[in-house]
Formats: sequence, C-alpha cells, structure tokens
Amino acid sequence: MKIVMLGAPGAGKGTQAKMIAEQYGIPHVSTGDIFRMNVKNGTALGMEAKAYMDKGELVPDELTVRILLDRVAQEDCKNGYVLDGFPRTIPQAEVLDAELTKLGDAIDYAINVDVPDENIIRRMSGRRACVGCGATYHIVHIPPKKEGICDKCGGELILRDDDKEETVKNRLNVYHAQTQPLIDFYTGKGVLKTVDGTVDSADVFAAIKSILG
Ligand code: AP5
Ligand code: MG
Repeated sequence: MKIVMLGAPGAGKGTQAKMIAEQYGIPHVSTGDIFRMNVKNGTALGMEAKAYMDKGELVPDELTVRILLDRVAQEDCKNGYVLDGFPRTIPQAEVLDAELTKLGDAIDYAINVDVPDENIIRRMSGRRACVGCGATYHIVHIPPKKEGICDKCGGELILRDDDKEETVKNRLNVYHAQTQPLIDFYTGKGVLKTVDGTVDSADVFAAIKSILG
C-alpha cells in the first residue's frame, strides 16, 4: 500500500503517518525528518536544506526528489510506504508518478488532513519534537508523560526552529501557493480522500482506518 499524506504544516500529517506505519507495517517516510536528521548531523545536505527550512521556504525540487527516490528504492519500501511531506509541489508529484508508472505502480491513497489556518498557529507553538527519535507531542493535546522527555526513547523534547509564529505564517503561504494544488492533482487520479483534522488525533486515525480498511 502506497500512501501520500497531504495537509497544511501542522495539520497532523506526521502524527497520523506514524500511526498508519505502525498499524499497516509499512515505513513512514518524511522528507522533513530526513532533512532535520541531516541538519542535526551537520551534513552538506543538512546545511543546504536548513537555509530554506528556517525561512519556511521549500527546499528545491531537484534535491528533494533525489533524496526521496533514493529512500523509496530501499528494501523496506518494497511493500509500500506512507509519504509525509512529499510531494509538496506539482513537479515533485509528477516525478513520483512517472517513477511509479515505470514500475507499473501508482499511489493508492492520498489522504488530505484538513485543518483551517486559524487552528494551525495555535498548534505549532505547542508542538515539541524529540531530538532522538523524531516523535511529536503537543504540550496541551498530546503531552509526554514527563515534561520535556520523550515517552518512547527518553530523548529531549524541543521546539522546532521553524515553529516560530512568523515562520509558520510563511509556511502556510507557501503551502497554499505550492502544495494545495496537489489536492486537484490527486483528485484527478481518483485517489484523494479528505479527513477532518480538527478532531482528536485518535478520531482522525479512526477516519483514516475506515478509508484504508
Ligand atoms: P515538514 O517537516 O514536512 O513540515 P510541515 O509540512 O510544515 O509539517 P509539520 O511537520 O510542521 O506538521 P505535521 O502536519 O506533520 O503535523 P504534526 O503531526 O507534527 O517540513 C519542514 C520543512 O522541510 C519545510 O518547510 C521545507 O523547508 C522542507 N521540506 C520538507 N519536505 C519538503 C519537500 N517535499 N519539498 C521541499 N521542501 C521540503 O502535528 C502538529 C502539532 O499538532 C503537534 O504538536 C501534534 O502533537 C499536534 N496534533 C496533531 N494532531 C492533532 C489533533 N488531531 N488535535 C490536536 N493536536 C494535534
Ligand atoms: Mg511533520
């Protein structure tokens, strides 16, 4: 099963993608997580990506596509995957589509987690991410058992550099200009499913499970 998660920054794509990955036994592939890991490790890729991420801009398609195609070519992706944060532009979606077509394959579901802009800024300021394993929490909605410490690996929880209010506003503008058109793209392919992302994350997941079966 090959799934694409769509939705604004902070809609809950990562939260849901992790649950899907666990439930259906497929890898969770997040381009944002791959970039953040490279930033943390100080790689050349990380340095290049960070300059865009900190402004809330997109990392250039060429770089992003290469990384994603390398990742999905790995052995663990052969029975499917859930993509989180990719594709984010029409050219990215077209490359993915062309690569899958070559393999006689296609995306099975594009799940659009729908959350209005008003809710987003409030959510982002409360988000905390684990520096160790990438797990995400929310200080009010999805708190860790112990403040500042990851339930899963004991790592430190931090506010992401790009979760400052001004950067979040720019990420939302970029989303509307460059990523929202993917809703029409996947509607055209007959695979778009929209779920209400404003409800509790367990209820969002229940809606997704009823789609995926
Ligand atoms: P990326 O890491 O993909 O960030 P994003 O799309 O902005 O999305 P987020 O990770 O911020 O939000 P999310 O939807 O995953 O929400 P989450 O589940 O954490 O990308 C970062 C940057 O990398 C980009 O800006 C760009 O520069 C670059 N990049 C990445 N991919 C790229 C690409 N393909 N092309 C070019 N550049 C790329 O939830 C948010 C918060 O809400 C959390 O605190 C969570 O606990 C909470 N929450 C979740 N669900 C609920 C709920 N139902 N109710 C209440 N709270 C909830
Ligand atoms: Mg995410």
